[in-house]
Amino acid sequence: MLKKVLFTFLFVGILAFVLPTNLSAQPYGYEGTQVCGMCHKTEKAGQQLKIWQESKHAQAYKTLLTPEADKIAAEKGFKTKAVETKECLKCHATGYDVDKSLIGTKFKVEDGVQCESCHGAGSAYKAMAVMKSREESIKKGMTFHEDKTKYCVGCHNPESPTYKEFKFEEMWKKIEHKVPKG
Ligand code: HEC
Ligand code: HEC
Ligand code: HEC
Ligand code: HEC
Repeated sequence: MLKKVLFTFLFVGILAFVLPTNLSAQPYGYEGTQVCGMCHKTEKAGQQLKIWQESKHAQAYKTLLTPEADKIAAEKGFKTKAVETKECLKCHATGYDVDKSLIGTKFKVEDGVQCESCHGAGSAYKAMAVMKSREESIKKGMTFHEDKTKYCVGCHNPESPTYKEFKFEEMWKKIEHKVPKG
């Protein structure tokens, strides 16, 4: 009995210690490419929306709807269709497994690997005043890695049933979306 009480105290103590960091990491919602694209579509901004729309990432969810995908899923031993299989969705989609309260009205799971798959859920950093500062955006949930390959290898790795060796330079060129200088 005493042991149990002590254990509970210890547990609550650890929770109190751990929770604040979890809470600050958790509450951001997904907005969707259309929301990001409102500001990131002009030539001056760098046409990130168009570059993404023309990339394979925009098709990643739709790929799971193909017979080829269902065949791969079956070969892997899954009993569900590829598009209903979490083990496929985790690299081919975003926001399919979060609470509905965190999904913005314009968000579309069909957009596959989208802006927020790489840059983080944007409900708090999408405001102009925040976006203008990298530091503030990061504080409000924007993902920023100094090493660009870090964005990629979470999905481009041998866990992918169709994995091809990932050559960063070559692949980055296909999806690069810079803000033009000047
Ligand atoms: C209200 C307009 C607006 C919206 C909406 C918006 N952004 Fe931005 N974003 C900006 C501006 C302005 C900058 C400043 C950088 C620049 O264009 O020079 C910026 C910068 C960025 C950067 C670069 C940060 C850096 O430090 O290099 C990323 C990444 C980004 N936005 C992603 C997104 C994503 C993802 C979304 C959707 C969740 C989004 N933005 C929504 C206006 C916006
Ligand atoms: C597959 C991952 C991925 C996707 C999808 C993606 N980005 Fe990026 N984005 C990156 C990486 C990597 C960088 C470079 C950041 C760096 O320099 O480390 C970047 C940079 C940016 C920048 C800053 C560019 C600059 O020159 O400062 C903006 C703005 C941006 N992304 C907006 C978007 C928007 C809007 C979308 C969706 C339409 C999007 N991104 C989709 C990975 C991605
Ligand atoms: C959330 C998972 C995810 C992340 C993160 C991701 N990718 Fe992808 N990527 C995919 C998937 C899934 C496909 C296949 C899409 C399809 O064909 O349906 C793909 C396809 C691609 C393709 C097209 C392949 C080809 O041969 O033309 C390029 C290029 C690419 N990714 C580059 C990148 C780069 C560069 C990064 C990092 C900056 C990155 N990806 C990050 C999941 C991801
Ligand atoms: C670890 C991340 C990851 C997982 C898990 C994953 N994929 Fe993919 N998938 C990718 C990437 C990245 C690509 C782009 C090509 C490559 O490098 O494999 C891709 C490409 C594909 C393609 C296009 C094939 C081609 O040659 O372009 C199909 C179909 C596919 N995946 C189906 C599936 C199915 C079905 C599942 C679940 C059983 C699955 N994927 C699980 C990351 C993943």
